[in-house]
Amino acid sequence: MEGRPRFSWRFQGDAIQWLQSAYELRVAQDLDSLNSPRAWHSGKIAGRKSSEIVYEGPEIPPSEDAYWQVRVWDDEGVASDWSDIGHWAQALSGHSQWHAKWIAHPNGATATPVVRFRSAFQYDGSELSRARLHLSARGIVRAWLNGELVTDEYFLPGWTDYSRRIGYRAFEIAHRLLSGENQIELEVAPGWYSGQLCWFGTNHYGDTPAALCRVCLEFPNKPAFLCVSDNTWECCETLVSQADLIQGQHQQIDSEWVPDWVPVVSRPLGAAKLHPLEGPPVRVLEHLSPVSARESEGAVILDFGQNVVGVLELSVGAAQGEVIIQHGEALDAFGGLYRDNLRSARQEDRVKVLQSNPVVWSPTTTFHGFRYASVSTEGEPIDPKTCTALVLGSDIPISGAFECSDVRLNQLWANIGRSFRGNFLSVPTDCPQRDERLGWMGDILVFARTATLLGDVQPFLRDWLWSVLDGQADSGMFPNIAPQLQELAEGAPGWADAGVFVPMTLYYAYGDLDILNRCYPSMKRYVDALISRNPEGIWLNNRSHDFGDWLSMGEDADKTLIATAFMAESIRQTALAAEWLNRTADQSALNDARLKCKKAFQRRFWRTNELSPESQTAYVLTLAFDLLDVADRPAAASRLESLITHNNMRLSCGFLGVGFLLPVLRKFGRHDLAMKLLLSEECPSWLFPVKHGATSIWERWDGWTEAGGFQDPGMNSFNHYAFGAVGSFMMESVVGIQSTEAGRQNMRFSPILPSPLSHASGRVITPVGEFVAKWQYKDDGWVAEVTVPMNGQLCFDIEVQAGSQLVCRLRGNQRWEVVEREFTVGSGTWELTFRPT
Ligand code: BGC
Repeated sequence: MEGRPRFSWRFQGDAIQWLQSAYELRVAQDLDSLNSPRAWHSGKIAGRKSSEIVYEGPEIPPSEDAYWQVRVWDDEGVASDWSDIGHWAQALSGHSQWHAKWIAHPNGATATPVVRFRSAFQYDGSELSRARLHLSARGIVRAWLNGELVTDEYFLPGWTDYSRRIGYRAFEIAHRLLSGENQIELEVAPGWYSGQLCWFGTNHYGDTPAALCRVCLEFPNKPAFLCVSDNTWECCETLVSQADLIQGQHQQIDSEWVPDWVPVVSRPLGAAKLHPLEGPPVRVLEHLSPVSARESEGAVILDFGQNVVGVLELSVGAAQGEVIIQHGEALDAFGGLYRDNLRSARQEDRVKVLQSNPVVWSPTTTFHGFRYASVSTEGEPIDPKTCTALVLGSDIPISGAFECSDVRLNQLWANIGRSFRGNFLSVPTDCPQRDERLGWMGDILVFARTATLLGDVQPFLRDWLWSVLDGQADSGMFPNIAPQLQELAEGAPGWADAGVFVPMTLYYAYGDLDILNRCYPSMKRYVDALISRNPEGIWLNNRSHDFGDWLSMGEDADKTLIATAFMAESIRQTALAAEWLNRTADQSALNDARLKCKKAFQRRFWRTNELSPESQTAYVLTLAFDLLDVADRPAAASRLESLITHNNMRLSCGFLGVGFLLPVLRKFGRHDLAMKLLLSEECPSWLFPVKHGATSIWERWDGWTEAGGFQDPGMNSFNHYAFGAVGSFMMESVVGIQSTEAGRQNMRFSPILPSPLSHASGRVITPVGEFVAKWQYKDDGWVAEVTVPMNGQLCFDIEVQAGSQLVCRLRGNQRWEVVEREFTVGSGTWELTFRPT
């Protein structure tokens, strides 16, 4: 961990209406001191806050451990016991504490793409206080200690701008040490460092992968022992002839092959900051067996039933000769693998076993987007039963669940989740299959809120935000993609703005004031750049590629209107951040700038009762970002409704409008229309792909149609989460669980009623715990059951049906109580229904 630790805790138990009234923290550098006056105590701090509490005790030195506990008081002043013990370790302090050198193969760029490194050290078996391995790479790295894999993850240290920042992780190794000689071995592949990036070719950051490694054994009674990567290490080339994230992995396997170990060369430390990773490791998240296998032109085509991201694992021996595995997301009209939409990405793995023993093999230096895999062999065919899809992704705890009476919506939710998992791989990407796979900022801007309802994405997105800050141009503009590549350095409206929207989303979802604090100077610099480049308040200048409402269908929203709407909203959000961070002077200057922008917007685009030029997205953004005076908003909402009606009840929004469309319709009382659009199967709609068997979210509304077949293969991914931004509406308005304030300690239950569905249920895990809601229509009316965690509160906000009153009871109670339309409960499980008056 780097910087000041932040503490959060949750409560176990089923106490009713339980609220914390105060807490106390204690912290010590060793377990024995925790329960002693030597520990640091926060003292009793009054309040309900139970997450994101910043440590204020004495600094813990770099690489040292710390232990902590909390106790709490309830609202009657009764104290709890001290909690279970938590632990963290501080990060190493910069390069100096590593004492290690970057090591590479002396053949440099001409060595095989995968290189192995080795060293050995002695350990006398004496008592250890701790033993850790710190590991990083210019490339991607795995490590073994005494033949056992230490790194339970793929693609370490992930993608950053390696010229500025390189991630590392620490692994506990005490349990793996042997008395006597210990062998350490590393394997490094190009990854994002020198492999192909998008359509920009290879060697973007350098041409030679390298490793950085530090083994540190610490003892209670004697100085620490270090074994670090340096000139004493050896390395060898391997039988891997291709190892590329986009192209695939090619290798031979031969246990009798004798590697040629040679001394390594060391490389300069470089200026890049070594960064302790916060985000979760990439791991195998799921194993899938094929749902069908069939022969096609000499190959076996395996169908895994869902469009996922990962690699194939299969059993292969010498009898198969060379095995070629190709991956694709769809089948063509003749049942063959459809790969045209991959552009130059081959997504092809090859393996040839030369030894007599068969092996279970899967590549470790690549990943593919696929539902289908075609496996061809030189010799005997493979046995499909031995093939498994290893689904890869950053190992983010899944915290959201959705279910309702319409199976199509359940499939849509599953598809959103799958595109989320597949594209949250080290960084949030647009797509996982073609030669692109970039951290496109517009995509995550629209999807981040839904992501926070699917999983605990706080550490993942925090880590990515460092790349956003690294990518900020000298002008103050945020990039289009992060990690930034020079070609896309200054971002477009709706893309660059993610540098403001995403930290704010993390603040709203998790109460993460720390990230806001750390991003604020960059957010301010960004909006200052917008303001000074566009002094009239209309974003006319420097709009970079200006993608507009990307992939809208049937109409294009005016690009200047979109740009100005985002400029105004980024200024407003930065002003809010300034308020929460107590930067009052900034806040008031930004509020003035936003007002100027809003007035200029109205002068330029508002004509008495309508926008000019009009489009669905124009109205959606105008209303979502409050760009009209209150009195004018109903007229704008009516125009939005007419545009949808005149479009045969179909939406037309692209990336930038899509996430705001249904919430805006609801906000302005168009519940029916919002639900109609959600349930429509006509293209463009969310259920059109579902109707046609989609198992992930398509990049385009019309990625495939009966009339036209596949859309333009130059840009037609079937795994793009942007349109999945509707997920937040499904949770917040269909199930009805909404947040009302930063940190999601207090939530609201307000489903759209009456609903065309007969039941819906959902779960959201927030920093305070699990909120669950389910409602259904029964013979005698509508009933709901909602569970609130300890120290949480929930405000019911239910439209009371005419001729009825709302009644509520704690589950298990006999008596119902009549309640107001809006009322608040604490922890417990509550039942709600309507009674005739
Ligand atoms: C990507 C998008 C991205 C866009 C910019 C595309 O190629 O796949 O998701 O946001 O470019 O318009």
